[in-house]
Amino acid sequence: MHSFRYLQGRLHAENVDLQTLAERHGTPLYVYSKATISDHFTRLDQAVNRLDHLVCYAVKANSNLAVLNTVAQLGGGFDIVSGGELFRVLRAGGQASKCTFAGVGKSREEIEYALNEGIYCFNAESQAELRYINEVAGSIGKKAPVAVRVNPNVDAKTHAKITTGKSENKFGIDFERIPEVYEWISKECPHLEIKGLQMHIGSQLTSVEPFIEAVKKVAPLVAEMKEKYNLRFFSIGGGIGIVYRQSLDSGTQEWWGGEGQEAHPLTIQSYADSIVPLLEPLGLRILMEPGRFVVGNAGILVTRVMYEKRGGAKTFKIVDAGMNDLIRPTLYEGWHQIVPVQKASDSATETVDVVGPICETGDFLAQDREIPVVKEGDLLAVMSAGAYGFTMASNYNSRPLVAEILVDGADAHVVRERQTLEDLVRGEHIPG
Ligand code: LLP
Repeated sequence: MHSFRYLQGRLHAENVDLQTLAERHGTPLYVYSKATISDHFTRLDQAVNRLDHLVCYAVKANSNLAVLNTVAQLGGGFDIVSGGELFRVLRAGGQASKCTFAGVGKSREEIEYALNEGIYCFNAESQAELRYINEVAGSIGKKAPVAVRVNPNVDAKTHAKITTGKSENKFGIDFERIPEVYEWISKECPHLEIKGLQMHIGSQLTSVEPFIEAVKKVAPLVAEMKEKYNLRFFSIGGGIGIVYRQSLDSGTQEWWGGEGQEAHPLTIQSYADSIVPLLEPLGLRILMEPGRFVVGNAGILVTRVMYEKRGGAKTFKIVDAGMNDLIRPTLYEGWHQIVPVQKASDSATETVDVVGPICETGDFLAQDREIPVVKEGDLLAVMSAGAYGFTMASNYNSRPLVAEILVDGADAHVVRERQTLEDLVRGEHIPG
């Protein structure tokens, strides 16, 4: 489900009219739907309820405090990758005891911070890192809970830049080496407590097969490690793909595949139906680390058409959002549906490039895209921008970060203010 639809010809987020919202708060503007976040989280949570489980939302997808607070209220845990993300979770009302800490390069400060706050577990990616966590924990008189991330060498069949479970990727420890690494921890690392085993094969997976392949491959290893080292959990990572093209007509909740996308991609039910029976016999707590599935369809980026430029080869709609606000199209060839906020009165379309104001050829939101005819001043909504949208935004070209709004029914809350010009230079100094 998602809560963006046309009502009387105007796009709404839940019961809030996006045109009014854009007029009040300016553009570009990220708008999130609380109902969609709750719905997605709850659907996953319920689909696997036969398992003792914890859904640890991947904070990197969208780390706004209001989003984290929504997840915390639903009882969720968090998958964090930095001290900064831990700080956000705690500030948002989340519990350290429900946080797993992933990432290949954790620093001493981050390890100490996480230990002092009492996180659930470190997911370690190398023997060097395990050695370091052992040393840091020992130096402050603590025992660090750890899980080792296994690299199962399974092809997630997704974009190369978001594939993580192949042996040529930098993540995890080779499948074959896992038993010796656990043995080494148990013998050589007195300040580590073996708690689990983790994997994550990639992001935006649109079929269940790679998940099945990875779970089938790793489950026997988990059973063996459980037997020997008393594992408490197995984390199967995140990666559940979403549909980037959806119906926005009032009353319709059907999703369909976009160009190059399958008509019936992975559904949460098919995901649960195929992996729960494989995981149940382990008799372990199962962790999941979804990011995109929880927030991807729950957010949009509203942008205004500033100018139109008809070149020899192409027509450009120059909008006020750029690659610094949403980098996915240029970084991953990410396809985001773009629709007018005010529904066109006729069905005329044109094929255009939707580009931003940044001085780079790669600054586009869509290329050669057929969209309804829009004119200067009109508003467009870039859909499914709730995951890896704002969190990957930057100040490039000295553009202030945009505002974020959380819609809850008929209420719209400013959950992050738009940066000012003063914010842009805060902390900078001219010597002398
Ligand atoms: N767990 C681990 C260890 C991860 O590395 C990630 C994502 C997740 C969970 C969450 O994956 P998700 O459920 O969101 O697919 N910026 C890229 C995606 C990068 C994903 C990085 N790791 C994009 O915009 O497509």
